[in-house]
Amino acid sequence: MKTIEKVLFALVLIPVFTFSLSANKICVTTPNNTLLLSAEEGSELKFVYYGDKLSEGDIENIFCNEKYAPAAYPLYGMNCQGESALAVKHGDGNMTLQMVVMDVEKITGENSETTVVKMKDKVFPFYVNVFYKAYTDADVIETWTEIFHHEKKNVELNNFASAYLPIRRGDVWLSYLYGSWGNEGRLMQEPLKAGMKVIKNKDGVRNSHTSHAEVMFSLDGRPQENHGNVVGAALCYSGNYKLRIDTDDSEYHHFFAGINEENSTYSLPKGEVFRTPELALTFSREGLSGASRHFHTWARFHKIAHGTTLRKVLLNSWEGVYFDIDQEGMDQMMNDIASMGGELFVMDDGWFGGKYPRNNDTSSLGDWVVDTRKLPQGIEGLLADAEKHKIKFGIWIEPEMANTVSELFEKHPEWVIESDQRPLVTGRGGTQVVLDLSNPEVQDFIFDLVDGLMTKYPGIDYIKWDANMSITNHGSNYLDKSKQSHLYIEYHRGFEKVCQRIREKYPQLTIQACASGGGRANYGVMPYFDEFWVSDNTDALQRIYMQWGTSYFFPAIAMASHISATPNHQTSRSIPLKYRIDVAMSGRLGMEIQPKNMTAEEKELCRKAIEEYKMIRPVVQLGDIYRLVSPYDDLGVASLMYVDSDKEQAVFYWWKTEHFVNQHLPRVKMAGLDADKIYTIRELNRIDNKPLPFEGKSFSGRYLMSNGLEIPYNHTVDYHKKSDYSSRVLYLEVQ
Ligand code: DGJ
Repeated sequence: MKTIEKVLFALVLIPVFTFSLSANKICVTTPNNTLLLSAEEGSELKFVYYGDKLSEGDIENIFCNEKYAPAAYPLYGMNCQGESALAVKHGDGNMTLQMVVMDVEKITGENSETTVVKMKDKVFPFYVNVFYKAYTDADVIETWTEIFHHEKKNVELNNFASAYLPIRRGDVWLSYLYGSWGNEGRLMQEPLKAGMKVIKNKDGVRNSHTSHAEVMFSLDGRPQENHGNVVGAALCYSGNYKLRIDTDDSEYHHFFAGINEENSTYSLPKGEVFRTPELALTFSREGLSGASRHFHTWARFHKIAHGTTLRKVLLNSWEGVYFDIDQEGMDQMMNDIASMGGELFVMDDGWFGGKYPRNNDTSSLGDWVVDTRKLPQGIEGLLADAEKHKIKFGIWIEPEMANTVSELFEKHPEWVIESDQRPLVTGRGGTQVVLDLSNPEVQDFIFDLVDGLMTKYPGIDYIKWDANMSITNHGSNYLDKSKQSHLYIEYHRGFEKVCQRIREKYPQLTIQACASGGGRANYGVMPYFDEFWVSDNTDALQRIYMQWGTSYFFPAIAMASHISATPNHQTSRSIPLKYRIDVAMSGRLGMEIQPKNMTAEEKELCRKAIEEYKMIRPVVQLGDIYRLVSPYDDLGVASLMYVDSDKEQAVFYWWKTEHFVNQHLPRVKMAGLDADKIYTIRELNRIDNKPLPFEGKSFSGRYLMSNGLEIPYNHTVDYHKKSDYSSRVLYLEVQ
């Protein structure tokens, strides 16, 4: 190794192998997964195996095939027909890469071991280090690259995927999420066919309204929730991404994932290190739900802010009052949520604006001063109210944005993203614009906004961080003309820098990622955020579908799920409160409603639900998910459950999704219990006049998993309370 490389990679060199594999054979392991690579010095890095944990004997024998193994990080130029992970133009115009392994190092962390394979081009002083970070407490391997060079001129990066994974040949099904505003996280499942499947995002700011940067591959044909081999992959990035699955003429499926390179060609100067975002991989023998459990454990331990701390039950003001914020109204809402057992109140949009009051969405973003016409006692008054009601207080901001009708825009028109010499394209309210986070001054402004709020009002417990616009007109007044194609990447670097600064100073603060609903459900932001708003659509029936899909990759602790009014404000559907509660209780429970419009009976139902949710909260938020019957299978019912790690407690959800006379619903078999333990059943949120036949009865885990309970299709309630909705939440506990 040359000295410069040694300086750049002053990593601790420790032996790569724990048993007698030769030095070029790399084994990366988590508790239940194995990844094998062949990294012979002077040769190409090759992918040998990824899947279930292997015995030492199998590992040695699998390496017999290594000479036929595919490249672990395919490069463009010397085999141009295939898809590549990395494609560049060198300073002299040469378009090819041919890289060989120089060295392998391992870094031992507290709960992980990272293998670094260092590669160099055979001709150019161009380098790629491929990282594989294997967790010791979660079945996830994160992989990414660092790209740098010492060529005289800049090297153009035309494609720069984080990783490549050969999947397998033949009958493989893809599960992924797709949707739209108000309909996020829809589960899509399809067999991989010849040709290219591309899942991508080009929003610039938010990246999970339509497609998501996470996928699962069912390796044994049609996907099953609790059986079969599954590979899961999640790209940990907040910006534009591209996932490619290329099924070639041999029916082999090749998977590539990384930053979307479209309109983002990166001109890399000598010495700068370009780091690609991590791709998190998992393998499960226990079907899609098994892969979800792996992601959830990894996320709670490593990828979500405060991932193992229970979340508070909250009331958010948005659907209750929208922009109609005032001191008295906020106090009343705080009083109401406190009396129902809630622990936090969040004041949403509408509280700010000096010269331009924020009465609707046409003005004021950027002017983060309290509107004392609405709140004469300011935030101090609200914090005092919260203290009086013995709850915490949270506040809404949309820091990355401005309106053209704002004092900020008047002062800093150059801070907005806009195309040079062309008219400004505006978004929400006809005046919204995106601030240019590539600009360090803008980064400081955003940091100062949060810092200012927290310094002045240290009692603030929670921030809802919203983002309601895309990058519509490409252009940065800050970036050099030659670097305009860096905008999307620099925006997210700037965003991450701000998040890091905020987290360094305010590690305890709870922050929700919201972006017109579920636009920011991704593992790029989650290390800095505690949770995300799943969707602006709070309709309980549609939420079953959205939350089902979202749960493939994200744990309940991160999924904000609120009880809202009926008829629902987005769908106008009327759904009984019991059903709305039962759906919201399967995520991070909250309320998004005007409590003063609720009857005393409704408030009492919510009070009881919150009390019961607090009891099951550790199981829901920290337990293992088992999805049982999918709403997407159109069987008339959807069901899932959470089980705690000792298999002593579980919560079972059953929601009817259709209602017909003489309908026959499947009996739902439970999963994840201990077959030999005896569980006592208790119904939560009960509204029926008489208890369920199995209320208080005890059953073995074996019976519940092989047979299941016969759930009555309808509620036994008085005539005026009957409806076409029915749902059950059962709490199971080993006595
Ligand atoms: C969009 C969010 O998704 C809503 O929850 C709400 O906060 C509004 N913005 C406020 O303008």
